[in-house]
Amino acid sequence: MQTNLRGRDLICDLDLTKEEVETVLDVAWDLKRKRALGEPHAYLRDKTLGMLFFFSSTRTRCSFEAGMAQLGGHAAFIESKTTQIAHGDTAKEIGEILGRYFDGIAIRHCDWDYGNKYINWVAEASRSPVLNMQCDLYHPFQCLADLMTIIEKKGRDLRGKKMVVSWAYASSYLKPMSVPQSLILQMGRFGLDITLAYPPGFELMPAIVDEAKAQARRYGTGFEIVHDMDAAFKDADIVYAKSWGPMLATTDPGEGKALQDEHARWITDERRMALAKPDAIYMHPLPADRDIEVTSGVMDGPNSVVFDQAENRLHAQKAVMALTMW
Ligand code: CP
Repeated sequence: MQTNLRGRDLICDLDLTKEEVETVLDVAWDLKRKRALGEPHAYLRDKTLGMLFFFSSTRTRCSFEAGMAQLGGHAAFIESKTTQIAHGDTAKEIGEILGRYFDGIAIRHCDWDYGNKYINWVAEASRSPVLNMQCDLYHPFQCLADLMTIIEKKGRDLRGKKMVVSWAYASSYLKPMSVPQSLILQMGRFGLDITLAYPPGFELMPAIVDEAKAQARRYGTGFEIVHDMDAAFKDADIVYAKSWGPMLATTDPGEGKALQDEHARWITDERRMALAKPDAIYMHPLPADRDIEVTSGVMDGPNSVVFDQAENRLHAQKAVMALTMW
């Protein structure tokens, strides 16, 4: 168990070693057990978290806010439009000043080619740890909750199990590519063989794919890329299928939507789930475009673990906050 995470940032999934992630999960399960038993666990009494949002949220905001209260502290919700950021407060000011007010700064900034840079600039200026609540490149807290959920459903020995990280069609908006990028970086370290599936034009960032391959080599796990959703689902143990925008092809929303609309058949439905193993689990970080990205039959069906996944956001985030912000 790694015991010295105080003051650490979590911006990219690989900011934590595998052993440190195992520590986070151990603490998360302990906090989950304590909450189930109604045992107080006020490890962050009198501590405060500043949560700065440049993008909307349901789960992330609510789970960080509830989590801080359960740990005995307080989380301040700060919507970027209500600040003076548009009038001149730079990332340096935010890091310097909020870092003096708060014991941790959490930021969601998903603007393409800017969000991750912004979070790192804040971190450089902050004396308090900075937590990435999702940027254009990574969604590390989602990924920790996902890993926790997979271990709960499939056991600690994940070696030899096949995880599909697949693109799926959505019509609502161009979703960030942060979730699949975090998944391919993290999951191979824990024994899973990754099959990444997407239609041409929906590539993830080459440097991140190269790093995911390097992690797979280091940990002796599999990593393949396919462009056929049916082939990807075949014999899968874990199906994680969600939409992301074709950000490397175009950042124009209209052009991106037109590219997406060419692939409306990339949906997770009952026929495709039947290609996976009978006990395969279906995962999605939510929100999903129901009956477009995934059928309601799958989402509400016996293989779906989406609500357990959402719950685990609370426990995983509390673990990281308790370890970094005391
Ligand atoms: N999965 C997730 O991050 O959900 P929100 O966008 O609602 O926070």
